[in-house]
Amino acid sequence: MEALRIISDEHQSLAGILHAVRFMLKEVAAGRLEPDLKLFKAMVHYLEAYAELRHHPKEDVLFKYLEQRTAEGKEVLEKLAVQHREAPQRIAALEQALAAFTADPSAFAGFALAFERYADFYRNHILIEEDIAFPLLRQHLSDADWETVDREFRAEMQANSGKDGKHEDFSALFSKLVECAPAPLGFGPRPFND
Ligand SMILES: [Fe+2]
Ligand SMILES: [Fe+2]
Repeated sequence: MEALRIISDEHQSLAGILHAVRFMLKEVAAGRLEPDLKLFKAMVHYLEAYAELRHHPKEDVLFKYLEQRTAEGKEVLEKLAVQHREAPQRIAALEQALAAFTADPSAFAGFALAFERYADFYRNHILIEEDIAFPLLRQHLSDADWETVDREFRAEMQANSGKDGKHEDFSALFSKLVECAPAPLGFGPRPFND
């Protein structure tokens, strides 16, 4: 079940980023923190490129196995599949709000609201996966399924690790985000530089 551990770890990282952005937005709104547009931009990029484009496809693989083993949870899997497919619209709304805020500081509230919506959505999405889909995976996938899917996940992680210089190194980006995010969630505030 290494695949499930990888997905759970990714949920924790993503929840951490969502929490950090929320915290920063509250601090900015209260006048206690200067907004770091580069940091916000990097975090939105992480959400798009990692949460939406690398994380969900791995889950789709897992859920395909489940579909083949049982009809249980069919509706939930359909709902999750739709939510995965809607990633481009979700990210576009966030990027538009950030672009508006970048162009005009008075658009901060719009960005904060767009982010709040995104974070609410994502938190619920994770809850559905962890509370409903994961227990079904544990229950219905065979040892042989886990062996195959674990191997697929290991290959995916290795091929896209970013250590080859051809793919983005998301673990390095995550560490950089955490370094720049304000305490107590991160080790900053520190200006984010590309
Ligand atoms: Fe997902
Ligand atoms: Fe997920």
